[in-house]
Amino acid sequence: KTVAVLFGGHSTEYEVSLQSACSVIENLHPEKYHVILLGITRQGEWMKYSGNIRQIQNDTWRKHDSCVPAVISPDRNTHGILVLDGGKATAIPIDVAFPVLHGKNGEDGTVQGLLEMAGIPCVGCGTLSSALCMDKDIAHRLAHLAGIKTPNSIVLPSQIPAKKLSEQTAHMQYPLFVKPANAGSSLGITKIYDAGDLSGAVEAAFQHDYKVIIEEAIAGFEVGCAVLGNETLTIGEVDEIELSQGFFDYTEKYTLKTSKIHMPARIDADTANRIKQTAATIYQTLNCSGFARVDLFLTPENEIVFNEVNTIPGFTSHSRYPNMLKGIGMTFEQIVDELIKLAMQ
Ligand code: DAL
Ligand code: MG
Repeated sequence: KTVAVLFGGHSTEYEVSLQSACSVIENLHPEKYHVILLGITRQGEWMKYSGNIRQIQNDTWRKHDSCVPAVISPDRNTHGILVLDGGKATAIPIDVAFPVLHGKNGEDGTVQGLLEMAGIPCVGCGTLSSALCMDKDIAHRLAHLAGIKTPNSIVLPSQIPAKKLSEQTAHMQYPLFVKPANAGSSLGITKIYDAGDLSGAVEAAFQHDYKVIIEEAIAGFEVGCAVLGNETLTIGEVDEIELSQGFFDYTEKYTLKTSKIHMPARIDADTANRIKQTAATIYQTLNCSGFARVDLFLTPENEIVFNEVNTIPGFTSHSRYPNMLKGIGMTFEQIVDELIKLAMQ
């Protein structure tokens, strides 16, 4: 099978994608797959790359001699990648695409739509579910309709004057999270403890998106659940994030300086099962397929509250998603094989 791995991306999570992609590439067994690498720069240029993995890891891949402009052809007859070299176009047919892209222009349905149009099977969620899960406001509304608890929140479709902002949030209980509706890795998110910090936080979130969501923080801690499958679901172990300060922001996510991830979570079996069931319900409600990591809160009263779904979760060998599946006996290579099989079903 010829697999095109898409890495990088015109997204604030570009760097995270490079690390995830390296782990995926390393786990595509050379006897099973012919791998084509398609890199997308931060600026959104598409390049076919045939250099080594190290240069992806340290972000020098773009300087490699092998880089040639290449795109996914939306023409169904091409059924693959169009390499645009020196004025002539050559088509490389591919069997399946694996977008290892995080955040905007990768995890939000845009690339999935392009691949669907081209008739190329794509690993992970399709266009609709990718877009639904990317927008935290829409995802919460749909989960709420399915009977899942969600944080109290308000949505700002555009910047509003400070006076109106304080009126609209007057009923809300601090601390609050101010988030871009569409972003990942906690970029653009601020946790605020005081109304004086509200407008600054809203402005910061609007740097990332056209829509901002303000949520009441949930007491307790965050748990995650790995889900794999189309109709029949495999559910991984539940993990737990132990914070000693603030929230699980970008720096903490990738350095774990003051926080810790417990896998499995330090919770009883009954609660773990309820979390797994809730994650499966959310996955199905949001039309997910392939895989996703469902993030939830567990309150001191043992209530489960929805946080978000990551349709292309962090995917390095030490990331949460593969570790939760390792907890039920799957290796990284088995996960990658299964994802490709699910994409081609
Ligand atoms: N958005 C990052 C990659 C994650 O959810 O793991
Ligand atoms: Mg996320």
